[in-house]
Amino acid sequence: MNTVKSVRELRAAVAQARAEGKQIAFVPTMGNLHAGHAALVEKAAQRADFVVASIFVNPLQFGPSEDLDKYPRTLLADQEKLVEAGCHLLFTPDVEEIYPHGMDGQTRVSVPEVSEGLCGASRPGHFEGVATVVSKLFNMVQPDLAIFGQKDFQQLAVIRTLVRDLNMPIQIIGEPTVRAEDGLALSSRNGYLNAEQREAAPVLYRSLQEMAAAIRDGNRDYATLVAAAQQQQSAAGFRPDYLEVRESNSLRPATADDRQLVILVAAFIGSTRLIDNLAFDLDTPA
Ligand code: PAF
Repeated sequence: MNTVKSVRELRAAVAQARAEGKQIAFVPTMGNLHAGHAALVEKAAQRADFVVASIFVNPLQFGPSEDLDKYPRTLLADQEKLVEAGCHLLFTPDVEEIYPHGMDGQTRVSVPEVSEGLCGASRPGHFEGVATVVSKLFNMVQPDLAIFGQKDFQQLAVIRTLVRDLNMPIQIIGEPTVRAEDGLALSSRNGYLNAEQREAAPVLYRSLQEMAAAIRDGNRDYATLVAAAQQQQSAAGFRPDYLEVRESNSLRPATADDRQLVILVAAFIGSTRLIDNLAFDLDTPA
């Protein structure tokens, strides 16, 4: 695997792969890779001949009081995991390479509606930062397909929408969330948890599973289900951010008639904010 830091080197390496007739898959990341990222790269290696990954902790998608400075940077370990998962080219640009003219005057990509509410409400500007950097990375790499985790369900919806609306010829593939044995979704932010918080954290997913089971049993009183699940989360030490039932294709609030649903949660444990979701189709047995 080759590691390059400049757009010039990246474009040269991708152009060579293209000249050899290879299909290009792209997996953008912020590094500190875990088995969830490895699954994305493995999927990319199954679907294409040449796999490009990027590691870039994008300042534009972090709020002023968020964890940009303490976000874990683990390049050597990440490179080993990428090689093992089948990555061919790693792009690790500096902030100046991505934003050579600074961030204030940077053209922004904003995706209305699907970016609103949920993480969009708790993290103002976050999805504009994500949509902007993903658009730039797509233009730099020009892949045939790109792979994202379903753990960031709203992010995936934002990216699908921007690709559709901006006519980008890139196939977007969403991969299922990889979980620890106790159900906790793998996340780089799990590394911030102390032992006690880590032990409590699986409650988040468990409460989603219980909500989904109740909905499958015919309960459509979403407000009461949300209140009960938030109580369960609070009892385990979480401070709720949001918990909502949405229609899974449009991400609009779910009605009692919707069949394709997703329950999305964000909650703080200590100062760490965790997110998770559970998508299900009432017409498909559990
Ligand atoms: O999901 C992430 O790690 C980031 O939001 C992404 C898509 C790499 C953009 O910075």
